[in-house]
Amino acid sequence: MATVLITGANKGIGLELVKIYAEQGDMVVACCRNPGGAEALNQFAENNGVDVQQVQVGDGDSVASLVTQLGDKPVDILINNAGTAGPAFDQQTASTMDFDGWLETFNVNTLAPVRVMQALLWNLKSAENPKVVTITSQMGALSLDMTFSYAYCTSKAALNKFMRMAAIELGKEGISVCVIHPGWVKTDMGRPDADISATESAQGIANVVAGLDASNNGSFWKWNGEIHDW
Ligand SMILES: NC(=O)c1ccc[n+]([C@@H]2O[C@H](COP(=O)([O-])OP(=O)(O)OC[C@H]3O[C@@H](n4cnc5c(N)ncnc54)[C@H](OP(=O)(O)O)[C@@H]3O)[C@@H](O)[C@H]2O)c1
Repeated sequence: MATVLITGANKGIGLELVKIYAEQGDMVVACCRNPGGAEALNQFAENNGVDVQQVQVGDGDSVASLVTQLGDKPVDILINNAGTAGPAFDQQTASTMDFDGWLETFNVNTLAPVRVMQALLWNLKSAENPKVVTITSQMGALSLDMTFSYAYCTSKAALNKFMRMAAIELGKEGISVCVIHPGWVKTDMGRPDADISATESAQGIANVVAGLDASNNGSFWKWNGEIHDW
C-alpha cells in the first residue's frame, strides 16, 4: 500500500485521482485549500478512509503545517495537481498583462509544486521508490506555438524546466520526477467542450505514474502514456 499525496484534490482531475488511488487500496492524503466547501471529497473520504488536509499550496506556512501533520510518514507518490488558469484571457496577452495576476499564477503553478516537493523531501526519501509527479500542460511546451494565456503558458513552461532539472539531481537520490500533460479535460478549468473526462485523464495519469522508474526519470508525458515534446 502506497501513500499518495495529491494537491487540488477537491474537484476535477485531483478528485478523480483521489478516487482511483483510494479504490486500489492506497493511503491517500487529499489536500485542498477549503475542505469545508469540498462536499464531494468529504463524502468520498468518509467512506474510503481518505485523509483530507487543509493546505494552501501558495503559502509556505500552510505547507509547513502539512509537513507537521504528516510527521515521519513516508510519502511514496506526490502529485502536484493544484493549478490556476490565471487572469482573464484579455488580461494575459502580448499587449496587456495583469502583473499581479501573473505573479499569483506563477506562485500557484510554478512555485507551489516546488514548495510542496521540497517540504516533503524527507518524507519522500523515506519511501522505497518515491515519485514526484507534477501536472503541467501542453501549453507550457516551447514546441507548441500559442498566442493566448501568456501567464498560464509561461508558468507551466517554467515549471517544466524546473522539474526537468530537479529530475537530474533528485534522480541520483532515487526519486523519480516527471511532468504530465493531462489532456484537454472537462473540468472547471478545461470547460465542458474539452476532449476527455476527468476520470479518463486521471486513469491515464495513474497508469503513467505506475510505470515511472529510473529509466524514464525526467520525462514530459501525455496522459495517454505518450512522450510530449518539450
Ligand atoms: N482541464 C484541462 O484541460 C487541463 C489541461 C492542461 C492542464 N491542466 C492542469 O490540470 C491541473 C488540474 O486542473 P483541473 O482541470 O482539474 O481544474 P479544476 O477542476 O479547476 O481544479 C483546479 C484545482 O486547483 C486548485 N486551485 C486553483 N487555484 C488555486 C490557488 N490559487 N491556490 C490553491 N489551489 C488552487 C483548485 O482549488 P479550488 O477549488 O479551491 O479553487 C482545484 O482543486 C491543473 O494543474 C491544470 O493546470 C488542466
